[in-house]
Amino acid sequence: MTRTFLAAEDVSACRLPLKEAATLPPVAYTDEGIWERERTRVLARGWLPLARVDQVPGAGDYLSADLAGEPVMVVRGDDGTVRVLSRVCRHRSALVAEGHGCRKLFTCPYHAWSYDTKGNLVRAPLMEGAEGFDPAGLGLREIRSEIWEGFVMATLDEEAPAFAPQVSGLADYFENYRLGDFHVARTLDYSHDWNWKVLAENFMEAYHHIATHSATLEPGFHARDSQVPDTDQPWSILHMPAADREAPQPPVPGLEDWQLRDLVAAIAFPGLLLAVQGPFVAWYQMVPLAPGRLDLKIHLCFPYWMQGMEEYGAIVDGAEASMRAVHEEDIAANDLVWTGLKAPLSRAGRLSPLEKSIWQMNQWWLDQMGF
Ligand SMILES: [Fe+2]
Repeated sequence: MTRTFLAAEDVSACRLPLKEAATLPPVAYTDEGIWERERTRVLARGWLPLARVDQVPGAGDYLSADLAGEPVMVVRGDDGTVRVLSRVCRHRSALVAEGHGCRKLFTCPYHAWSYDTKGNLVRAPLMEGAEGFDPAGLGLREIRSEIWEGFVMATLDEEAPAFAPQVSGLADYFENYRLGDFHVARTLDYSHDWNWKVLAENFMEAYHHIATHSATLEPGFHARDSQVPDTDQPWSILHMPAADREAPQPPVPGLEDWQLRDLVAAIAFPGLLLAVQGPFVAWYQMVPLAPGRLDLKIHLCFPYWMQGMEEYGAIVDGAEASMRAVHEEDIAANDLVWTGLKAPLSRAGRLSPLEKSIWQMNQWWLDQMGF
């Protein structure tokens, strides 16, 4: 079945105060019609992270991405500016680039139209006979973007409110961590057969530490201690205090003791997901592809100053091992959720008061969807 609405009683149940609220109903995750509406209203109109600027350090460096169905690339121009450009050729719509690399020209493999690193059409062979043909108006389309704390954020919506003011409270919370000074040290690639909200919700609650991560995260970060500040802005913060308040940590300039010990997850709706602990950031980059399909890159990020440390390689290896272990546990849980959501008798459930981040995102999602 495809639909473009949710049942009124399901919306009302989600809209109740947290202590009484229900989850979104299963169709919000599984239905093709809801997905199409979501792609237009949530993913195309929202701001999504496509790269970090450190991933395209030199002129001509580019990284392909998918922005709500639009094939795009993040490119550093020969003028040093990072832009987001559509990868769709202005001639017959073939893709002019895939993957990542470094180029002076993006030449379409179909008829060799060539674009420079700013997206200008600089060569269109054998077009001499075309009347009124003006290359000036046929550059690769530039997508609206903003650099926020080193993240290249982009939206397909020309009218969307600017990103930075929407997340000013989030920026204040993370000010000491200096997120702009981080770089991607390693990337772990995954593909999952779930709706993207299954991943986002799993990321934003510590309640499941008691079962899914009973041997990994729960001993260090008790589910019952997790806290979520109130906010009416389009983001949520999940603060997971460390169980061992006395755990010694090597000091990091600018960070307070609790910031070294505690784990903090943050989401800027709909798709900037960060888990932060002292001088470590795990950036979960989701690419929703279908109602039940997403690509996920887990980027392990560290501040530049750590690169010079003798044990840096071992630190990155250690982060990879623990992130993989925890994510394997989450994969197992999310696979079960996805199977259950698709079941004929599946209905909305009750949220725990520990799942305030999910509740916060649900309110925002219902607003964006016009429900
Ligand atoms: Fe988890």
